[in-house]
Amino acid sequence: MIEVENLTKSYGKKKVLDGVSFKIKGGEFVSIVGASGAGKTTLIHVLIGKEVVDHGSVKIDNYDVANLKPSKVQEYRRKVGIVFQDYKLLPQKTVFENVAFALEVAGYGQKFIEKRTIEVLKLVGLEEQRNNFPRQLSGGEAQRTAIARALVHDPEMIIADEPTGNLDPANAQALAKLLLRINQYGTTVIFASHNQDLVSTIKKRVITLDRGRVTGDKMNATYK
Ligand SMILES: Nc1ncnc2c1ncn2[C@@H]1O[C@H](COP(=O)(O)OP(=O)(O)OP(=O)(O)O)[C@@H](O)[C@H]1O
Ligand SMILES: [Mg+2]
Repeated sequence: MIEVENLTKSYGKKKVLDGVSFKIKGGEFVSIVGASGAGKTTLIHVLIGKEVVDHGSVKIDNYDVANLKPSKVQEYRRKVGIVFQDYKLLPQKTVFENVAFALEVAGYGQKFIEKRTIEVLKLVGLEEQRNNFPRQLSGGEAQRTAIARALVHDPEMIIADEPTGNLDPANAQALAKLLLRINQYGTTVIFASHNQDLVSTIKKRVITLDRGRVTGDKMNATYK
């Protein structure tokens, strides 16, 4: 359960989040839409504990995310899988190593890491590319590697900011389908995007931001 209450944040005189409130239940798929500059990335940064707010709160499970102590940030992020527009893959590691790395730093044993990494690479359809380096991947494959990395530690929630921003329409559709499939397995998905066509084909809950305010919140919605 995510409870966002009255989030307010300004940069200088400009209010970037202005009284944002909503609740998201475990297992939901929520698209966050709005024009460029509406505040989507700022909101995502607050949800992942990367940005503090002026007022308001974000409660995710037992974490007070908008005011997270530095010592709690790592612990909280382990519960969340994060995917960005620029894939942020490590260039000198293979697909397998990029995904396995997340488990290595968490201290899992080699056998488990091997098994779990192959499992998620299968899920995102990248078993064959496991030994490719990022420069040897298409944009869609690179983004699916980033999704595999976000999923590998079995998070309760995936938060993706404009994950299809660098993809052509066909790859963007494929990525949206993948996120929907991940959601069907029970993972909560929060998907920020200004891609109207894509959000309209996803047809799940849509929260609309306009200049820092929530101006719409509809189930099974399209984005126009
Ligand atoms: N670090 C910052 N300092 C000052 N202003 C900022 C900063 N980060 C964001 N802003 C401003 O906050 C507003 C919201 O930005 P944000 O990145 O959240 O928008 P967005 O909805 O994600 O847009 P886009 O669709 O282009 O990614 C913008 O007007 C932006 O210029
Ligand atoms: Mg953004």
